[in-house]
Amino acid sequence: VFRSADGEMPTYIVGTEAQFPPFEIVDSRGNVIGFDVDLMNAIAEDQGFKVEYLDQDFAGLIPALQTGNVDIIASGMTITDEREKEVDFSESYINAGLALAVLTGNENIKSVDDLQGKIVAVQTGSTGFLKAEELQKAGIIAEIKDFPHVNEAIEELKIGGADAMINDLPVTEAFIAAQPDVIKIVGEPLNSEDYGFAVRTGNTELLTKINAGLENVKASGKYDELLTKLPTY
Ligand code: ARG
Repeated sequence: VFRSADGEMPTYIVGTEAQFPPFEIVDSRGNVIGFDVDLMNAIAEDQGFKVEYLDQDFAGLIPALQTGNVDIIASGMTITDEREKEVDFSESYINAGLALAVLTGNENIKSVDDLQGKIVAVQTGSTGFLKAEELQKAGIIAEIKDFPHVNEAIEELKIGGADAMINDLPVTEAFIAAQPDVIKIVGEPLNSEDYGFAVRTGNTELLTKINAGLENVKASGKYDELLTKLPTY
């Protein structure tokens, strides 16, 4: 956090992994855009602070928060008990869940039940990774291959290095919308997850602002307006 020259508005650094549409992506001008960005900007405006986005690998976000390199994580991050030990989360700002995807031509894998002996691609440090670990421990999947970015997991499917991918449903849908006929979603969603913004443990001043802003943005109708924009990313 730093204060602008006029000493008025604090600027908070927001960490994100911006290859995760529709929540965060980099546009052709190099700006980070997406639903998380729209929502965080609206909260900042409501609460009178400024934000700057820092794009980095997902697995490095919590360490970056802890060392003070970033003040907020806005990165489609699921609120989990494990992460609650390391950061403080805001109220949930959207619900998502994990889904299984395979190449469009794959007719053998129709659900998690068909993953026996299979190789599954996931994003490093994600809840998809944790789900894959759970399925591996249960003796279902044979191997996990993890990648810093979701598109690299999709590439691995394309080259035949993995049989399936576990990733957040709306994100996989966004990749399919941008590049149809490469992969498809199979089976039912694997779970339900809530996304939250994260701050350093004990940073109640900032957390209070984020939660108050989120409430106001919801009450004003701005949140619903941003939701209608979500499918455009
Ligand atoms: N929701 C999942 C998690 O919390 C994946 C989030 C990945 N986000 C990103 N911007 N790459 O683990």
